[in-house]
Amino acid sequence: MVDLKNPKRKLLIVLFCICAITIIIFSYSSTSSLQLAIRQSNKPVSKALCACRQCISVEDEDPWFRKHFNASISPLLSQKNAMLSNDTFKWWQKLGTKGNKANYRNVVKKLFQVFPSKEHYKDSAPNRCRTCAVVGNSGNLNGSDYGALIDSNDFIIRMNRAPILGYEKDVGNRTTHRISYPGSIRHLQNDTHLILLPFKTETLQWITKALTTGSMKSAPLPEMAQINADKVLIYNPTFLKYVYDVWLECHGKYPSTGFLTLMFAIHICDEVNVFGFGAAKDGTWQHYWEKNKFTRTKPTGVHAGDYESIVMKLLACKRKIKLFEGR
Ligand code: C5P
Repeated sequence: MVDLKNPKRKLLIVLFCICAITIIIFSYSSTSSLQLAIRQSNKPVSKALCACRQCISVEDEDPWFRKHFNASISPLLSQKNAMLSNDTFKWWQKLGTKGNKANYRNVVKKLFQVFPSKEHYKDSAPNRCRTCAVVGNSGNLNGSDYGALIDSNDFIIRMNRAPILGYEKDVGNRTTHRISYPGSIRHLQNDTHLILLPFKTETLQWITKALTTGSMKSAPLPEMAQINADKVLIYNPTFLKYVYDVWLECHGKYPSTGFLTLMFAIHICDEVNVFGFGAAKDGTWQHYWEKNKFTRTKPTGVHAGDYESIVMKLLACKRKIKLFEGR
């Protein structure tokens, strides 16, 4: 029997009880939203809102997806959405923008004198089925034989320097979109859209100049000469911040090209098939075209690779995307 008459012992028991209750409450409330979302992910799929076999949007949306997905923020920059909020501009400046908002306003004004300002991909409808392949640059594509499967999508979105020539069997040979930042643009074909990632105001100046006078330093001019202004799309900085705040919950410094591409796709496509993300079978992380060049270990740094990968797996688990991880 515990002697409750002893005041010291009584105090210890009270303290113990408070601790136990606190631990229970804390461990329950600190269960991350991702873990909770994983638990909820075994729900049966509800009615699709597109004409594909499996649609990103469904009636009776999953609570985690509903909490994150915001269809009202356009993934692409247009004259209408180009003015950034103070918050967004401040965050964007930290990524590398020099100068102030007045300068940004001037740059954007000039930009839209060169580009037709259109609203793109706002045509979602119950009878639409737009399938998209998001093709990352991982070595897990080597020997995958995914080429035909990738090419069977309506949109095929590739990234940065990824080549096709010589790798068609594994990566396909069509590219409808290539997403990149200035220094990494390669292999643009005439009919390919360039989705430019602007991490700073200078990128907007660069594209304006590259397509008008062709005089901007660091523009890979032979590549730029192949595209016309109609094929250029610009990633919206407001959307970039939304991806970082909402989908990555501010993990890392800013999202990786791969994650930004995936987010672009889930906001403009009905079905998203993802290839070329993650390590190769042997655990290495090099690009598929650099197979024998060197062995790269898992990349870390400004991007929250692990967190991005969890979100991606969760999207797959909730049947919002299909992940093809090599074979
Ligand atoms: O290396 P790079 O940034 O051009 O690759 C584009 C994207 O492909 C990355 O942001 C990443 O998401 C994905 N990737 C990957 N595993 C690799 C290489 C690239 O998941 N080994």
